[in-house]
Amino acid sequence: MKEYTPSVEIVGSAAAAAERAAERIIAWMSNRSPLTLGLATGATMTPLYARLVAAHRAGLISFREVTSFNLDEYVGVAAGSPASFHRYMQDHLLEHVDIEAARARIPNGMADDVAAEAASYEEQIAASGGIDLLLLGIGANGHIGFNEPGSNFASRTREVSLDETTRIANAGGFSDLASVPRRAITMGVATILEARHILLIATGSEKAAAVAAAIEGPIGSACPASALRLHRNVEIICDEQAAAALATWPQKKDRRRA
Ligand code: F6R
Repeated sequence: MKEYTPSVEIVGSAAAAAERAAERIIAWMSNRSPLTLGLATGATMTPLYARLVAAHRAGLISFREVTSFNLDEYVGVAAGSPASFHRYMQDHLLEHVDIEAARARIPNGMADDVAAEAASYEEQIAASGGIDLLLLGIGANGHIGFNEPGSNFASRTREVSLDETTRIANAGGFSDLASVPRRAITMGVATILEARHILLIATGSEKAAAVAAAIEGPIGSACPASALRLHRNVEIICDEQAAAALATWPQKKDRRRA
């Protein structure tokens, strides 16, 4: 198992992290077409998607040749529900860019047979030629996608149980904690590691321990994001709050103040 050192860039604020990530993706998109993107949802991604939409409106990027695969979706939440990741993606990116609707894939959390849906999702990713660039956030518990601590690094797209901490962190979109789903469908750790390039964005002090564990802790399933050190092409962009627990900081930092 060869370990690689991810590139870590630390910027002054969450807004600067979104700006820097958008720059990286825009540069990436302008050089490559067709392109298969892996996409995440969540608060970290919202300001990034706003920048990508603005870049599209300014004529800097087009999604015409893009196929996208989202990381995950809740099980039992309909695509039309305001709390679904389907809805999030429509609201924050897909409705505002020129992507062909059929090429924007998100796991179907309402599938009668979630295992069959997961297997078909893997096949669709393979049929698209694999993911060129995968965007990731990180959970405060070190999850990537919904691969919670304990997830096997050989795992593929499958149904998982959400940790209580994840349900609490994601409760905002629901009327109360009891309504937050307990199950989700997520790309597996192995599926994630097959992406050719990975860009992880982490902002806010609640991510500091997870970022330090991912970059400096032992590689193992206790911190699923530590699996990223088994991949040769990982870029991590964090704000100073999310980077605060890195022991080697500030040596690692390439500080770009907002
Ligand atoms: C979302 C996903 C999750 C989030 C993570 C961080 O599709 O896969 O791993 O990236 O939970 O979420 P935020 O950005 O809301 O803190």
